[in-house]
Amino acid sequence: MTLPTPDTPETVFTYGAPHLKYGPGASDEIGFDLSQYGVHRVLVVTDPGVAATGHPQRVADQMKQFDIEAHVFDGAHVEPSDESLERAIAYARSAGPWDAFVAVGGGSSIDTAKAVNLLTTNPGELGDYVNAPVGKGRSPVNPLNPLVAVPTTTGTGAESTTICVLDVLALKVKTGISHFRLRPTLAVIDPDLTLTQPSGVTASAGMDILCHALESYTARWYTTYDHKRAEQRVPYCGSNPIADMWSEKAMGLLATSFRRAVQRGEEDGEARADMAMAATFAGMGFGNAGVHIPHANAYPIAGRVKGFHPKDYPPDEPMVPHGMSVALTAPEAFRFTFGASPERHVRAAELLAPDADRPDDLAELLPRVIADLMRDIDLPNGVGAVGYDEGDIPGLVEGTMKQQRLLATCPRPVDEDDIAGIFRRSMELW
Ligand SMILES: NC(=O)c1ccc[n+]([C@@H]2O[C@H](COP(=O)([O-])OP(=O)(O)OC[C@H]3O[C@@H](n4cnc5c(N)ncnc54)[C@H](O)[C@@H]3O)[C@@H](O)[C@H]2O)c1
Ligand SMILES: [Zn+2]
Repeated sequence: MTLPTPDTPETVFTYGAPHLKYGPGASDEIGFDLSQYGVHRVLVVTDPGVAATGHPQRVADQMKQFDIEAHVFDGAHVEPSDESLERAIAYARSAGPWDAFVAVGGGSSIDTAKAVNLLTTNPGELGDYVNAPVGKGRSPVNPLNPLVAVPTTTGTGAESTTICVLDVLALKVKTGISHFRLRPTLAVIDPDLTLTQPSGVTASAGMDILCHALESYTARWYTTYDHKRAEQRVPYCGSNPIADMWSEKAMGLLATSFRRAVQRGEEDGEARADMAMAATFAGMGFGNAGVHIPHANAYPIAGRVKGFHPKDYPPDEPMVPHGMSVALTAPEAFRFTFGASPERHVRAAELLAPDADRPDDLAELLPRVIADLMRDIDLPNGVGAVGYDEGDIPGLVEGTMKQQRLLATCPRPVDEDDIAGIFRRSMELW
């Protein structure tokens, strides 16, 4: 149940974040901001849904007054795959050279821009940089160009993290590229851009915020790892005092504004502003602490999708969106981790739902708070509701166990039987 005590415990944690500009109207200043980096030719990366809102073209147009030539590429795939990233990289290479990138969109557009930036400034191909064992796990040898990330969803926090997530189609696995050089140079968070975020996207992406905050808050504490040498340090240190602070703030904002943003997001600018801030705060927390079981389980839930089509996402392909796939096993995962830090689980539940009734068994409090929220914002009722049944559990467990980098952040030891039990009890949540 408890983790072994290391012979030489870690004494150091790190904190990284991009420069950041927040507030309604912040996206009107990107031309000026880029001119400060001395750039002349910029590629704006987005997806077709976000392009239709007009925001990416508007951002590109206002660069002209600073003598910056900007082109919009709207070919980011909603939840990028190796193929979609390779197409974006091929376009950027053929139409380049570029001396900066701007991503306007959700995590899909931001991650696509990260990959394009990496592969237009460094030698080799995508697979060279994808995490081992799926890819070769190489580090970039050259610095990357400036990347300005402008989120239009309230979810991933990708504007402040060092990772790019992708679906490797042939292997049916989701994995990533992770290196500090991938972190955007500047994050521009303009809540006005999120007013058009559809309700279904707001619900799923919001559960991503919630799980980033909860998983990093309950992650293994940084001193419980073995001491690393300088060259062994990774962006994810485990929970630590600075990441905790961001996660707690994010949970407080979710408590007041999540339901409102889903239910009347077009008119409730205050709720949108809170959600944009919550996403960024949670990104600064988990981007330094790490995430664990719900995210590890999300990869096979999304990667092995059968025929599920979520409301408000592009209808052409079946998908379980990232935030939804993370949420589906969260109540059970936090029931499982409760014993590792009961006080943190209770505190998180109090932050998320200050008025919730306290059950006799406090281990039930956080799972209940999460399930009540999911029901209110119309998320599917468990893993069964997105098309899986008992027979799928071995495949799902196999997929989760491949995410050892994430499971290493779990606050208690976790094996295949534990994960199978979590999936089984997550078939239906209420
Ligand atoms: N890099 C990271 O740190 C990180 C962290 C978590 C998740 N991710 C990845 O991010 C992706 C998910 O990103 P996401 O949840 O932000 O959503 P998304 O980028 O996939 O967008 C979802 C849908 O919403 C639409 N949309 C987005 N903003 C809109 C707006 N303002 N108005 C109208 N439509 C809008 C898009 O066109 C798309 O159809 C996944 O691939 C996930 O794995 C990355
Ligand atoms: Zn996430």
